[in-house]
Amino acid sequence: RPADSGAARTTVASAYGTLPAIQGEGMAALTAWVDEIAALTQPDRVHWVDGSRSENEALLRGMVDEGKLIKLNPEWRPGSYLARSHPSDVARTEGRTFIASEREEDAGPTNNWAAPDEIRATITPLFEGSMRGRTMYVVPFSMGAVGGPLSHIGVQVTDSAYAVTSIGIMTRVGTAVLREIAGGAPWVKTVHSVGAPLQPGETDAAWPCNDEKYIVHFPDTLEVWSYGSGYGGNAILAKKCFALRIASVIGRDEGWLAEHMLLIRVIDPAGRQYHVAAAFPSACGKTNLAMLRPTIPGWRVETLGDDIAWLRPGEDGRLWAINPEAGFFGVAPGTGEATNVTAVETLWGNTIFTNVALRPDGDVWWEGLTDEAPAELIDWEGKPWTPASGRPAAHPNSRFTVAAAQCPQIAPDWDAPEGVPLDAILFGGRRATNVPLVVEATDWTHGVFMGSNISSERTAAAEGTVGELRRDPFAMLPFCGYNMADYFGHWLKVGQKLRFDRAPRIFQVNWFRKGDDGRFLWPGFGDNARVIDWIIRRIDGEVGAVDSPIGRLPRTEDIDLDGIEVPQADLDALFAIDPKMWLHEADLTEEFYRTFDGRVPAPLWAELAALRYRLQRA
Ligand code: PEP
Ligand code: NA
Ligand code: MN
Repeated sequence: RPADSGAARTTVASAYGTLPAIQGEGMAALTAWVDEIAALTQPDRVHWVDGSRSENEALLRGMVDEGKLIKLNPEWRPGSYLARSHPSDVARTEGRTFIASEREEDAGPTNNWAAPDEIRATITPLFEGSMRGRTMYVVPFSMGAVGGPLSHIGVQVTDSAYAVTSIGIMTRVGTAVLREIAGGAPWVKTVHSVGAPLQPGETDAAWPCNDEKYIVHFPDTLEVWSYGSGYGGNAILAKKCFALRIASVIGRDEGWLAEHMLLIRVIDPAGRQYHVAAAFPSACGKTNLAMLRPTIPGWRVETLGDDIAWLRPGEDGRLWAINPEAGFFGVAPGTGEATNVTAVETLWGNTIFTNVALRPDGDVWWEGLTDEAPAELIDWEGKPWTPASGRPAAHPNSRFTVAAAQCPQIAPDWDAPEGVPLDAILFGGRRATNVPLVVEATDWTHGVFMGSNISSERTAAAEGTVGELRRDPFAMLPFCGYNMADYFGHWLKVGQKLRFDRAPRIFQVNWFRKGDDGRFLWPGFGDNARVIDWIIRRIDGEVGAVDSPIGRLPRTEDIDLDGIEVPQADLDALFAIDPKMWLHEADLTEEFYRTFDGRVPAPLWAELAALRYRLQRA
């Protein structure tokens, strides 16, 4: 029986009937689950996704025919499409995102908690018949190379073809994954419905969704249920929901870490390779650093990942990392020749754009792609736009979805199942004040303390004050699937499994420090390679450092400034430590730690006490 026969209501037989001929004991549980979800959601058809090129093309063609995608002019952007979301469905909905652990304290104060039974009773009726008139796609996917030692498998059922094609870019989809499941590999269950059943004969919306939204994670049973949204972070469940929230819980139980980190290989002029992972909150330049083009001669960066890294201690005492994804789901605005030429080149074709502007010639545009805006555009809501319109043409959270392999500087072995051994971990935020360009942790515990204190200013800080800080520990605030204080403790535990001389060294960086006149003190972008260069020379023991109350600072003469002008006064300001302001930061840290009801591990309180002691004596 063909996959999309369009026949009547799904039956158990039809779900089985469309299955690829793969046998193994694991298939029974999968098909039973698929039938259970089909019986609940009542789709017209069940389509087992095989990940083939022809299937992908048919899905894209179907969405164009239905008015859900606009095919871009292949002369400018071959194989590429534009989706316009419902104006209300443009971002992750953190307020509607829940961690439904058995015990409330396991979700912790930074997550929305829901009792599993209660929230199941709330959402199950929403899913009843929610796929009527639609196709239910079954998407088996692997995070990490199929069968790799750090990889994990999931299955998403969804009634959104847009989600299917996005998952196809962001993960490894297909029958190779089914073979793993058939062979007994464990897998995570993820269910997604846009929550817009169709009556017979009813025309579909261009972007079906529902005003009511629930993104619910069940860490105890390793399930995700997402209802009402078609937007990436809410609908590509492999990404934030699985690879961060659920995977962080699996990592806690298995001794590894699921992190909101980019991953790069840095190659020095002598050809030596170093691997660096970095956690920055959303909109602090992870994709830019992931695709860095160093401005110092002889240095190269190869991209391994731009958003998620899974880190696991190896037998050798090193910390090994993979990027579990296979694509980039990046923010378009601000991505341009000047800021990230590598990303611009990555997007030459085969890209799904969402909520960017459309040019009259059938190509796309967004703020920051070029210095000057085109004279006329169709904006992200489908309305005519000119530079005089007084509103952005692309939504500020408009996105591109593109395969990692298309990145011109992707590491040739980015897909290696065993991953890469980390030499350095960077933590950063967007701080106008206080936090120096780079500071090295004295040891792993001090580094974990730094990670727990990542913050960004909500507003540009006025001179001499600390702006209102949004705490975003390890850049994981919206993504940690369990109690954040327990997660700090887990970081400490992982450190104990590493050989102390082989563990990655930890650094805090801040590209965004401003002078008294409000100017950025550091040029950033490609020049951030100069900071990475210092970090690597520290790792190799080639340069010394200056002890400060907050960690080890560079001697400014050790930073390679060949070819750029940074006045000595700016350099000094980039590394200035004001003990009074830092004591205030320490008070804020204490206040933050106190929100965790005594669960913050003692070694981190000890770090705070030691920091205060050093600051008071400085
Ligand atoms: C998302 O919103 O789906 C997403 C990837 O989030 P962010 O860019 O904030 O990491
Ligand atoms: Na893929
Ligand atoms: Mn992210």
